[in-house]
Amino acid sequence: MRCFMEAIDEAIGRIKDSQSVAVITGAGISQESGVPTFRGEEGLWKTYRAEDLANPAAFQRDPQLVWGWYNWRRGIVAEARPNPAHLGLVEMEENLDSFMIATQNVDGLHRLAGSKEVHEIHGNIWKARCTACETVFDDREVYEDGQMPHCPKCGALARPHILWFGETYDQELLSGVMGFLARSRTVLVIGTSGMVYMPVHLAEYAKSRGATIIDINPEDSAVTDVATISIRKKAGEAVSMIVKGLYH
Ligand code: OAD
Ligand code: ZN
Repeated sequence: MRCFMEAIDEAIGRIKDSQSVAVITGAGISQESGVPTFRGEEGLWKTYRAEDLANPAAFQRDPQLVWGWYNWRRGIVAEARPNPAHLGLVEMEENLDSFMIATQNVDGLHRLAGSKEVHEIHGNIWKARCTACETVFDDREVYEDGQMPHCPKCGALARPHILWFGETYDQELLSGVMGFLARSRTVLVIGTSGMVYMPVHLAEYAKSRGATIIDINPEDSAVTDVATISIRKKAGEAVSMIVKGLYH
């Protein structure tokens, strides 16, 4: 493997040559903000069973348990602040003609940092959706145990507005993201394991349309095989160095 500085320099060169840059992010980009990732040493799926929590059958079986888990995570996310990786991407957007983030994260930290073109393909933890009429609404409460939000329109129980295992992606959202990827010269993939396959699929698609893929992750992942350049560092440090090289 080439040294880390070489990979950073190469990434800077590629971004300089691109007017259109896309970024795909996963839980790893928020790790330095104190939001736990799903996989890895301290990952949530080590302690919790996704089957019990993040799928429609689990919610039908025990909505209070599922909401309890999301309320616990709301409490963590409420305390979290954007880190240098989120902030570096804001600076990139300000300096490029064309820029987009597609994130799997539901924590809202990209928008909180100031990024504008953000597509949350797994939903948002601060939104809820009616189980009867499907109305989506903002819901910033961290509920007490046993309490759950209800639809402002029809009063039915609401669920987290989050894509669960076994559910399908919003096709309109996804085709917008793919359209952008097809036009992107460079795609940064930051902090995702690729165990949920969509980011790998999106990176493969962008690569097939001619994009350079830059993988930022302290570990190898399913993205590594697709990547043109791999930067084995935490997101905060890697993105800060890239932005410094580009604009400072
Ligand atoms: P994962 O938890 O699967 O992977 C996190 C990745 O981030 C790992 O590859 C880590 O090596 C890397 N990582 C850890 N710390 C990092 C840091 N400081 N900087 C950069 N990378 C770091 O997270 P995702 O791939 O996002 O779905 O998981 C995909 C989906 O699985 C999630 O959106 C979630 C989960 O089930 C839903 O909740 C719908
Ligand atoms: Zn309703």
